[in-house]
Amino acid sequence: MDILEAMRTRRSVRSFDGAGLAPGQMAELENAVKDVYNPFGGNYTIRLKHFDKAGDYKPSTYGMIKNATDYFTIGIGEDEESALAVGFSFEQVVLKAWQMGLGTCWIAATFKGSAFEQGELWPDGEKLRIISPVGRPARKSLMENIARMTLGSNNRKAFKELFFTDGFARSLTQENTYADALNMLRLAPSSTNSQPWRVLVENDRVHFYYVPKSPASVLDCGIGMCHFYLTERCNGHDGTFYKESESPARKDNWRYLISYKRND
Ligand SMILES: Cc1cc2nc3c(=O)[nH]c(=O)nc-3n(C[C@H](O)[C@H](O)[C@H](O)COP(=O)(O)O)c2cc1C
Repeated sequence: MDILEAMRTRRSVRSFDGAGLAPGQMAELENAVKDVYNPFGGNYTIRLKHFDKAGDYKPSTYGMIKNATDYFTIGIGEDEESALAVGFSFEQVVLKAWQMGLGTCWIAATFKGSAFEQGELWPDGEKLRIISPVGRPARKSLMENIARMTLGSNNRKAFKELFFTDGFARSLTQENTYADALNMLRLAPSSTNSQPWRVLVENDRVHFYYVPKSPASVLDCGIGMCHFYLTERCNGHDGTFYKESESPARKDNWRYLISYKRND
């Protein structure tokens, strides 16, 4: 499965077969964590941890996750850069896992920190903010089906509601040179499926904005930008993320985050 197919078909997985990861899979995922490309700096630490089913250490996800024995636990700094960086970086691991036939689920809210933190120390300024189970998907539990339905997880906002040109006066068209990459951004996962990302394309520059919807909105944008960037790479383009000194245009309460330009 190539990376575009992985972005198109990935979904959050909350029910697992309980078999646990083989040592080879564990090593491959650990390498994926080491190999991530992160253009944003920031501070985060991604760990992969096996939980012994026979042990008395039972991490709680309020029943949301079924039969997972392996989890990523992620410590993240408080600042915007760290949130962007971890979204962009860990999504590369999520997609790699999917290519290996393994499911994951970004989890920011439905877990009890204390159980996952047992015996863990995080670098200065970082706190455990995200976990993700990882393993072979099993049939969706009733709880998972209800969660997906409640969140509208199969739905995404329309292209024309998210991507703009002319200082937000007009929606972007599918003929735009960035349409492919933006279509992939659209499919990215976000907390409560809130899809906070908005984009303004002007003169071949891409300006990323977000609508503040939750404490994870910037992190969500990092995930979307990962899909955008990986698609650019697949289409033979490389580019640079940079920050304009001022927001290129303004709209409502939307916040300017960062911009992108192609190097070619
Ligand atoms: C940053 C982030 C935090 C999330 N937190 C939770 C969570 O606490 N509990 C949960 O069940 N799902 C959580 N999700 C999963 C989203 O609900 C899911 O990505 C969204 O509904 C879209 O569905 P999909 O991933 O299957 O495409 C989170 C996703 C992201 C990106």
